[in-house]
Amino acid sequence: MKINIAVKCMLAVLMMFAARAGVAGTLAGSAHDFSRVNGVVPAWNLDQKVCVVCHTPHNSNTSVSDAPLWNHTVTASSFQMYTSPTLQATGLSIGGNSKLCLSCHDGTVAIDSFGGTPTTTQTISSANNIGADLRNDHPIGFTYDTNLVSKNPSLRDPGTAVTIGAGTSSKVGTIASNMLFAGKMECSSCHDVHNTFTVGSNGSGMVKMAAAGSSLCVACHNK
Ligand code: HEC
Ligand code: HEC
Ligand code: HEC
Ligand code: HEC
Repeated sequence: MKINIAVKCMLAVLMMFAARAGVAGTLAGSAHDFSRVNGVVPAWNLDQKVCVVCHTPHNSNTSVSDAPLWNHTVTASSFQMYTSPTLQATGLSIGGNSKLCLSCHDGTVAIDSFGGTPTTTQTISSANNIGADLRNDHPIGFTYDTNLVSKNPSLRDPGTAVTIGAGTSSKVGTIASNMLFAGKMECSSCHDVHNTFTVGSNGSGMVKMAAAGSSLCVACHNK
């Protein structure tokens, strides 16, 4: 028993070093590694599983479109979408991909509410709580196509080549293939939920590109 705990501690320390060094990004050791929450093994996940909080191989929740074998309780909030006088995109409404994120990040559903067992034990920290009012967040939930680019020529064409990540974990593609979901801007247009592509010493935030020079922003905005 004692040896078991010592081995677990060593593994945790090794994982912390891997995360600090900013080497190849992985889910393990990231903010989405629910084997630990805020550095502590949660009472609801003593066997320290990682994927099950979001996915299940069987009996998944098919109520959300584009949800891959989804296992987490889905938010029932209605969302207020971004507006601005200069925005050319129209018909903003929450898409399937973003709804999955907001099923923890709008603060209404507990992190440990999964597998069809609703609980209220552990909700998200205030720093990571985006809320249901998305008027102060980058616009999501709209089609990003050549028609939008013709209305807003400072946007790059969705067929433009972009590489996400770096080194061995880089992925070559286009804005459309690497950053859009069913042709739409969603949370994962900018974020990598599995942290696969975390790059650089400042690779926090689980974004798809390095922070330096705001490469993420200028991938789509020709500014
Ligand atoms: C915090 C929630 C969360 C956790 C934890 C998580 N996933 Fe995912 N996963 C998602 C979401 C959301 C998507 C939808 C695609 C996206 O947003 O990038 C996804 C997509 C996928 C896909 C299909 C698309 C792709 O990226 O290949 C696979 C396969 C997958 N996850 C496997 C896993 C495995 C294996 C684990 C555990 C090691 C895991 N996921 C942990 C949320 C999660
Ligand atoms: C099962 C609940 C859950 C789901 C689903 C989920 N997250 Fe998270 N996410 C968390 C928690 C919990 C944290 C903060 C962990 C902490 O405070 O240590 C977090 C942290 C983050 C962070 C901050 C990362 C950092 O390094 O500080 C980002 C960005 C993020 N999530 C984006 C997303 C996106 C995008 C999606 C959907 C594709 C998503 N999350 C889906 C629970 C979730
Ligand atoms: C246009 C790109 C973009 C989109 C779209 C986007 N984010 Fe982010 N998000 C970022 C960046 C950049 C950061 C800062 C990352 C860093 O450097 O730590 C961030 C930070 C976060 C954080 C950490 C807490 C904070 O406020 O800094 C969370 C949680 C998060 N995003 C969740 C989401 C969710 C959920 C969605 C969809 C509703 C979303 N993001 C959509 C770019 C984006
Ligand atoms: C995957 C592509 C993509 C990424 C990455 C991205 N954006 Fe955007 N952004 C868009 C699109 C598309 C719009 C909608 C433009 C329109 O409809 O006129 C938009 C809208 C905006 C707007 C609102 C414009 C308005 O008229 O109200 C701002 C500001 C903005 N983005 C800044 C950023 C910043 C800063 C980043 C980096 C953190 C970023 N964007 C990353 C695609 C992207």
